Amino acid sequence: MRHYTISVIPGDGIGPEVIAEAKKVLEATGRVFDFRCEWIEFPFGAEHYLATGKVVDDEALRRIAETDAILLGALGDPRVSERVTLGGIVLKLRTYFDQYVNLRPVKLLRGADTPLRDKTAADINFYVVRENTEDLYSGVGGRVREGEATIHGAMHRRLYSAYFDVSVRVEPQEELAYQIGVLSRRGCERVIRYAFELARRKGLKRVTGVDKVNAMPDIYEFWRECFERVARDYPDIEYEYNLVDAVTMWFIRRPEHYQVVVAPNLFGDIITDLGAAIQGGMGLAPGANINPEGLSMFEPIHGSAPRYKGQQKANPMAAVLAGAMMMEHLGEVDAAQAIEQAVEQVLQYGPRTYDLGGNALTYQVGDAIAEQVRANTK
Ligand code: IPM
Ligand code: MG
Repeated sequence: MRHYTISVIPGDGIGPEVIAEAKKVLEATGRVFDFRCEWIEFPFGAEHYLATGKVVDDEALRRIAETDAILLGALGDPRVSERVTLGGIVLKLRTYFDQYVNLRPVKLLRGADTPLRDKTAADINFYVVRENTEDLYSGVGGRVREGEATIHGAMHRRLYSAYFDVSVRVEPQEELAYQIGVLSRRGCERVIRYAFELARRKGLKRVTGVDKVNAMPDIYEFWRECFERVARDYPDIEYEYNLVDAVTMWFIRRPEHYQVVVAPNLFGDIITDLGAAIQGGMGLAPGANINPEGLSMFEPIHGSAPRYKGQQKANPMAAVLAGAMMMEHLGEVDAAQAIEQAVEQVLQYGPRTYDLGGNALTYQVGDAIAEQVRANTK
């Protein structure tokens, strides 16, 4: 029997409910495929912060670093600033473990309903590779009130540290806010390379780079230069560039065109919510924060939906599918496939949660998926 140690951070809102179902399905799958997950639970989230003042600290990072992967629910609670719950937990983990790839499959599963008329599972099946540590997420920002000032900023990454000193003079009565987007050459090239490698591995033929070079040439001409350098190593794969605004249109009009899409952090964030919508909703979209050389983290891409907390209304499928991505990453490819297949079957014949037009409870959908995994392998 194979053994995996998994850090689990259920988080806020509906996070704990959907993570409970993901664990249930992984346990059922492990019994069939001969592996066992040991869960190391971490209480990080708004509640824990309100009680202790703590977010992910060095001690937790050390313990998490010893595990095989992280399974994360969702963070965010109206009582606590997002600087704390997101900045101190999700974004902190992504940057600390240098999970520079955010892999988000946009796949319309059989049984899921896309809002796109005339599109089927054959049309909606591609990957978005989102850069996950740089760009507008560099964390360098602030405000300047009237007068003269030097603004300072620093960002620390595994690849580099960058320090900013910018002089500004702000007219009386005026006030500025700024957020600096930073790309590094190695940071871009490694994620673009991942996209090309993914295309090769999956037998796909085209990589689409996303940017906004027309309006922000300083940062995105640089992105394209990095892209060109990497693309040279992959003569077997064609590539193209799309502006991000155009991508939001083409994902809807011609999703079948896309195979692997690689985007800077913020645009990748935005277009993957759109991707989730065309694959049937946020309740069906998983994501993986990957460090190919290190520790990776798997999460549904939806938020914590605090209004639904504790009601067993949320769809656990995105979290379950995130669990499947985790097992695939750990080498349990058959198990991952079995989970995805079971989700498809439940989507076709089984109970549905509220978001999919049903009234089944979260745990009932989790039970149905777990049962389906068992039934398929009998
Ligand atoms: C996501 C989310 C996060 C992000 C938020 C919660 C910080 O929107 O994973 O897509 O912007 O990356
Ligand atoms: Mg998002």
